[in-house]
Amino acid sequence: MKKITIAIDGHSSCGKSTMAKDLAREIGYIYIDSGAMYRAVTYYCLQHDLFTEDSVKLPELQAAMPDIQITFRLNAEGRPETYLGGECIEKEIRGMAVSSRVSLIATIGFVREAMVALQQQMGRNKGIVMDGRDIGTTVFPDAELKVFVTASAEVRAQRRYDELKAKGEEASYESILENVKERDRIDSGRAISPLRKADDAILLDNSTMTIPEQKAWLLEEFKRAAQCTI
Ligand code: DC
Repeated sequence: MKKITIAIDGHSSCGKSTMAKDLAREIGYIYIDSGAMYRAVTYYCLQHDLFTEDSVKLPELQAAMPDIQITFRLNAEGRPETYLGGECIEKEIRGMAVSSRVSLIATIGFVREAMVALQQQMGRNKGIVMDGRDIGTTVFPDAELKVFVTASAEVRAQRRYDELKAKGEEASYESILENVKERDRIDSGRAISPLRKADDAILLDNSTMTIPEQKAWLLEEFKRAAQCTI
């Protein structure tokens, strides 16, 4: 069967990564979490003191872009982890310090250009599942399968809260809900590559679906899309 490109976009914390990762493992495709790449840039900015009170030191960040080397490596359990240079930053990029600043980083044109170029390079041989906000619209407009995932803000905040708690991290449901809504506002309202459903993407509202249900749904959609390319 010919390999295809799968683009999974949608709102933050709606389970896109879980679905995308599970599908990639099941069908033997590469999985790329494009959000992790924007998070890695944010982490870099925090480490190098590039944030001002309400903005970013743009000239300094632009000059630093060639030094920001983002890669993914599989850990001992076969799960992909994000690296910045030689450092594994998977845990650091999921905390609130990065989560509360990443949307701002994702509005910067030269950051998006660099990330999109890297994502396209990663997907040049197809056989890839990539999740994000602009994968079906900007990164891979010709992807054979595009899914746009959403769920209510409250359901998404609860899932994120449960996730952080399970990792033993301090979390407040109210601040997470606030963060989810704020990220929706910034992601959908930004000038460059705003979050929107591609015209040819399939809409999935998973507010009341279990993870196994989503997994089965996505596998069926993959089979349908892959059959079409034989
Ligand atoms: O999926 P996530 O929550 O890890 O994404 C982090 C941020 O990066 C979020 O604010 C949206 C942004 N993002 C983006 O603008 N484009 C992408 N392709 C992926 C993520």
